[in-house]
Formats: sequence, C-alpha cells, structure tokens
Amino acid sequence: MQQPPEPDYVPALGYHWLTPYYDAVVGATTRERTFKKVLIKQARIEPGQQVLDLASGTGTLTIWIKQHQPQATVTGVDADPSILSLASSKALKANVSVQFIRALSHSLPYPVAHFDRVVSSLFFHHLSWEDKVRTTHEVFRVLKPGATLHVADWGQATNVLMRGLFLFIQLLDGFKSTQDNVAGKLIPLFEEAGFVEVKQRQTFTTVYGTMALYSAVKSS
Ligand SMILES: C[S@@+](CC[C@H](N)C(=O)[O-])C[C@H]1O[C@@H](n2cnc3c(N)ncnc32)[C@H](O)[C@@H]1O
Repeated sequence: MQQPPEPDYVPALGYHWLTPYYDAVVGATTRERTFKKVLIKQARIEPGQQVLDLASGTGTLTIWIKQHQPQATVTGVDADPSILSLASSKALKANVSVQFIRALSHSLPYPVAHFDRVVSSLFFHHLSWEDKVRTTHEVFRVLKPGATLHVADWGQATNVLMRGLFLFIQLLDGFKSTQDNVAGKLIPLFEEAGFVEVKQRQTFTTVYGTMALYSAVKSS
C-alpha cells in the first residue's frame, strides 16, 4: 500500500487550528518581547543590509527588525501559507515594509552569498535532525562571507525546574526534534556546517524552559 507523503513542515503550534492563537500564547508565555529585542540587538543590523527571518511565522520578529533598522531590506520566509498571510496583514497594519515568501528552510530561493544576516526564533526545535542539518547548510550557503546567523530557540536547561517545564514543549512539538535542542546539539550543528565563533550568548528562563540565544559567523 502506498504511504502518504511526509508533511514538509509542522505548523507553529503543532496544529493549524491553533495558529490564530499563536501571538497571544507566545506573547503571554515566552518573554517574547525581551528575548526577541535582545536577539535583534545582538544581530547589529546595519543600513543597507539584506536580512532573512527564517521561519518567520506571524512575522513579529520580521516587523521588529525592520522597525529597529528601517534602512535594511527584511524578508521573512515560512513554509505555511496561512501564517504568511497573517504576517502580511500584521505588517500592513503596522505600516512596515517587509516581504514574506513561502519557502522551505532547506531549499531557499536565493543565490549563494545573498544575505548579511539570517535571524531565526523558535524554529530549529521543529525540525528533524536531518532537516536541521540540511537547513543549517542552506543558511550557510545564502549568507555572505563574514555574515552572521542569530538564533533564539529552546536550549539546554539551566536547572531541573527548566528541564521539567520543557516537557510541555516536548509533548506539543514531539520528543525527537526537541531533544536535539535540550541536549545542546545546536552549537555542534552550526560548527559542522562550517560556521565559526559559534556561541551561546544568553539564556532566559521561561514557563516552558530555557530559551537560548546563539550566534555564528560564516568566515570570510
Ligand atoms: C513556532 S513557529 C515560530 C515562528 C516565529 N519565528 C516566531 O518566533 O514566532 C515555527 C514556524 O516554522 C515554520 N516551519 C516549520 N517547518 C518549516 C520549514 N521546514 N521551512 C520553513 N518554515 C517552517 C512553521 O510554519 C512556523 O511558522
């Protein structure tokens, strides 16, 4: 018997019907404003730069990046057409000029060395290990030499309570893909793709566990 095709992405909250509640849930529970603003500061985006928000979801980070550096060109890509349309409406309402494109993270419709910054939040834990590897190589490909990657995602728990709380995310998003994050595998993942100066820059305690911010450089 023929098997149904593998789904090529997991929706933002695991199920499509939950997507309209995404902003309310994430805003209320993940210290979103705090960690995304720190991520944007760490990216040190300059006028004229090309910035990609990878798996941009409802576009909150994409919009905040453009508001922070209005002279950058900011693009959000995501696999889910329905969340892209929510993001476009939000940008229109905020009077912010950004572009949203449908694409899979491991097959980005951009040439080699196109972006100065790739920024991504709450995304890598959705991917299987194979897709984490494919995606990281693809990000490396589209970054210019000397350009940087900035990631905020669930990281190694800073204490037992944080590890316990993270079980909720593991139940929602699956144990296999989330285990790579909590096992501290994002740093070796980025290094194996060729990135240098890979660092965990900061962690935040949240009601779902430890949020970690990473940066990495594509050497020139
Ligand atoms: C938890 S949401 C995070 C959204 C946003 N970055 C944020 O910080 O709120 C994860 C997003 O990844 C997208 N996604 C999942 N797998 C993907 C893939 N392989 N390529 C592109 N987007 C993907 C989902 O559609 C969803 O919008």
